[in-house]
Amino acid sequence: MKFNNIKAIIFDLDGVITNTSEYHYRAWKKLADEIGISFNRDINEKLRGIPRKESLEIILGDLIIDEKEKERLMEIKNNYYIEYLKNMGPDNILPGSLEIIKEAREAGIKTGIGSSSKNAKTIINNLRLGKYIDAISDGYSVSNPKPAPDLFLDCAAKLGVAPSEAIVVEDAESGVEAAINGGFRVIGIGPAERVGKAHIVLQSFEGVNLKDFINPGSGL
Ligand code: G6P
Ligand code: MG
Repeated sequence: MKFNNIKAIIFDLDGVITNTSEYHYRAWKKLADEIGISFNRDINEKLRGIPRKESLEIILGDLIIDEKEKERLMEIKNNYYIEYLKNMGPDNILPGSLEIIKEAREAGIKTGIGSSSKNAKTIINNLRLGKYIDAISDGYSVSNPKPAPDLFLDCAAKLGVAPSEAIVVEDAESGVEAAINGGFRVIGIGPAERVGKAHIVLQSFEGVNLKDFINPGSGL
């Protein structure tokens, strides 16, 4: 299928534009080892699109700790994560993503980022992507996390488009649900078990052009 009348594309960041999942894994793993709780890559997979605090709570499982201690642990993890982000540059943009962003802008389609991450702006700067992006909604923009549609609605409002005129690109199940809940057209990146609820499922943007998912003459 292809979409009609598209005025904007809102991209999730982690897992769509770049792959930070490995850095999140290493940072959470270091923290988990230090506090003596188990953490592995399977649990890490469940954290795609999940904000920092909810991620910590998933990792802690049945362990009950107070808010102040949660804040302390999140700060330790984030400091480890920020260290990994320092190694990141334009080479870390996933294949095909920048090409799709450039193609959209040339076609007069606006581009936005809708990411749960509070580090989104740092990552966009490290990837040197800022000049290609019209609006950013990040972990500071709204209080209801995905699967609530709030983050994408916030980005669509900044871009001045209706949800029905915008495509959301997501790699997380919670993100696909958020976009569908908001009335967006949705492209899922990754396996169907994870993003199968999206209108279109792609393995990646490698070798993909806008005309593969937007009808010519209706936004192009
Ligand atoms: C993205 C990632 C999640 C991460 C969340 C918060 O959605 O997919 O794995 O937990 O951002 O990231 P932050 O950089 O704010 O800790
Ligand atoms: Mg993601």
